[in-house]
Amino acid sequence: MNKINSSKPPPEKHKEKIRSMFNSIAHRYDFLNHFLSLGIDRLWRKKLVKLASGSKPKHILDVATGTADLAIEFAKTKPKKITGIDISENMLKIGQEKINKLGLDQIIVLKQSDAEKLPFSDRSFDLVSVAFGVRNFENLDKGLMEIKRVLRPNGNIAVLEFTMPRYFPVKQLYKFYFHSLLPLIGRWVSKDSGAYSYLPESVEAFPQGKAFIAELTKAGFADPQIYRLTFGIASIYLARKL
Ligand SMILES: C[S@@+](CC[C@H](N)C(=O)[O-])C[C@H]1O[C@@H](n2cnc3c(N)ncnc32)[C@H](O)[C@@H]1O
Repeated sequence: MNKINSSKPPPEKHKEKIRSMFNSIAHRYDFLNHFLSLGIDRLWRKKLVKLASGSKPKHILDVATGTADLAIEFAKTKPKKITGIDISENMLKIGQEKINKLGLDQIIVLKQSDAEKLPFSDRSFDLVSVAFGVRNFENLDKGLMEIKRVLRPNGNIAVLEFTMPRYFPVKQLYKFYFHSLLPLIGRWVSKDSGAYSYLPESVEAFPQGKAFIAELTKAGFADPQIYRLTFGIASIYLARKL
């Protein structure tokens, strides 16, 4: 049985807040994810894997892997190794249990570490993925530069992130759901008072669509592409390291 390779994250305030928030909701995270999205989050991860695995990546890094759903989905493409990193030990613990249950512990290795200080040498991975993680980085530039550093030349970055729909009536309906219903259900099920209010706040404050493409370009990635999913409530961004 694989053990999570644990190392203490740096003591920055924002990071500690995020880490303790995910530690506190980890036991309900998967249930709430599937319940609040009516299971659509599974289809989004499948779509990301389909879009990102065309170049047959052998060494994949899943940043902010959480409970490892994306890493597990990538395992279906038969890469040599998938490494998942996250700052929350409780999220990783649940991920590790799922990996062990599925007999994937020879392919997927989890490690507790910080996306902004990746413990890997330059050019180690063919593909780096991040699902619903970049929004939580303390310093987005630093995170993207780290991802670029560990990618081999021509390696790809694939990011899945929530976006806000832009058109009537989905925009208005979703805003109501996201700001009123979702925090209420999230608080009730997870018993965490802040986590599911943080979600809509952090999504709205984060660069979306063209603004995130601009961040990827600024970090030095080439050929950025965006795929809008399900009325624009999530998007996949792909780009290549030169
Ligand atoms: C919304 S969850 C997404 C988990 C998973 N990728 C998924 O698709 O369900 C966000 C994850 O990002 C992690 N995270 C936030 N900031 C991080 C950082 N700086 N380095 C590593 N992980 C981080 C959190 O601990 C949490 O597990």
